[in-house]
Amino acid sequence: MGQPTHARNSQEWWRSAVIYQVYVRSFADGDGDGTGDLAGVRSRLPYLAELGVHALWFTPWYLSPLKDGGYDVADYRAIDPAFGTLAEAEKLISEARELGIRTIVDIVPNHVSDQHPWFQAALAAGPGSPERELFHFRPGRGENGELPPNDWPSQFVGSTEPVWTRLPDGDWYLHLFTPEQPDLNWAHPAVRQEHEDILRFWFERGVAGVRIDSAALLAKDPDLPDFVEGRDPNPLVDRDELHDIYRSWRTVADDYDGVFVGEVWLPDAERFARYLRPDELHTAFNFSFLSCPWDAGRLRASIDTTLAEHAPVGAPATWVLCNHDVTRTVTRYGRTETGFDFADKAFGTPTDLALGTRRARAAALLSLALPGAVYLYQGEELGLPEADISVDRIQDPMYFRSGGADPGRDGCRVPLPWVAGAPFAGFGSREEPWLPQPAGWADYAADLQAADPKSMLALYRAAIRLRPAFGDAPLTWLPAPQGVLAFIRADGVTCVVNLADTPADLPPHTQLLLSSGPLDDQGRLPQDTAAWLRA
Ligand code: GLC
Repeated sequence: MGQPTHARNSQEWWRSAVIYQVYVRSFADGDGDGTGDLAGVRSRLPYLAELGVHALWFTPWYLSPLKDGGYDVADYRAIDPAFGTLAEAEKLISEARELGIRTIVDIVPNHVSDQHPWFQAALAAGPGSPERELFHFRPGRGENGELPPNDWPSQFVGSTEPVWTRLPDGDWYLHLFTPEQPDLNWAHPAVRQEHEDILRFWFERGVAGVRIDSAALLAKDPDLPDFVEGRDPNPLVDRDELHDIYRSWRTVADDYDGVFVGEVWLPDAERFARYLRPDELHTAFNFSFLSCPWDAGRLRASIDTTLAEHAPVGAPATWVLCNHDVTRTVTRYGRTETGFDFADKAFGTPTDLALGTRRARAAALLSLALPGAVYLYQGEELGLPEADISVDRIQDPMYFRSGGADPGRDGCRVPLPWVAGAPFAGFGSREEPWLPQPAGWADYAADLQAADPKSMLALYRAAIRLRPAFGDAPLTWLPAPQGVLAFIRADGVTCVVNLADTPADLPPHTQLLLSSGPLDDQGRLPQDTAAWLRA
């Protein structure tokens, strides 16, 4: 206990690390222009060190027109000027490392920005040109090519827009997300070569890991056949060719002791685990846990399935409660539907934030006690709720591409509150933040919470400090009443979470290490509360 796991085995730090996701644009604004930047992150490194996280994952910080929050990259070897410079990124990586914090960058291999030189060259070169072979350009169907080449669904759930755009020269090009994000052709050797060079570029700069965006989408059936539900193999998701790509990436990472975390949304546990075979990706995000409703049986099943699917390939699990794409945890848990599903997002969903916060506190102790790595999304440690962004301020393409039905993802991307009494809650200085901070945002400020032992921040700090140092050794479930989760870890620490509507007796223990809320006057664990005990 107490000893950070990565210190015990720094080689395999990623097997049990706590990794903090930084959405740069909304983290801290160092130059006062209303947009978060690298200067802001550098100024807050002591905060991150005090929180105790082992690594930072930066959402894309490269040159980008920001049509999809930076997931539309125009140049992988340049930092967007809104965020800073390459020299500053290098400084940030080394300053963080001095504090014991590693850096993970985000690579978006499925597509590039339409402003990327490759796509600009392809546009200029015209139909049938070798430049167009780096993407998926096709003539249309129908008598005059007026119909898109196939019927593939958008990868923005809820989108009512096509994934093909026609150019004035008659060709159509494929984009599984927005038209500003043309899909690359991964059957082309230059695409593979370029990405392996990009990996080396960042590993050379001292990054410890790479998050792979949309990792199961890169390979496409070269015939681009129509999408038929249940068609096997699927023409655009989870194709077998991907494994060869990642085996090759792995040899690059191994040269630098680098690690991968894949964004792999797949319902099939066995297919998911294939990406984690020993010569492929080290880890992948566990979206089944993130999507799971606040229900003891469902959570236990999700934990068991996760551990069982990882065991045969020897990869550690990851535990994720939220990120920059999904509804913030305290809001999700404060609703009737406590699971997450992109298809269910709607404006005006009633939310009980006090309830959601209580559950999120318990969920924090649950996830931090599980075997594997934990991902925290900036602001989760402050218990920030999802913000309602007025429609005239929404920037996320998900909202626009759903015809205004989906509120989009801006509500979880609101600039952080740092200092309660400062302008813009201490996020920046001169200009108003790029997304509005809702009324009451300053109440969540980090400085207030740092001074309050009952705050969400204090809970996260204490839990990360205490987080049992047993790496990814297995857990053992303990007998517990209906609605209560109880398990013991290898070093004798027990985690109990009560999701039942009556208080639960604590199992025998010598010490109460931490609880997400007070016990009742009979020493029992109230509903929606978790505790860590020494057995
Ligand atoms: C991933 C990112 C998301 C982005 C999409 C397209 O899902 O997490 O933010 O919109 O890929 O790059």
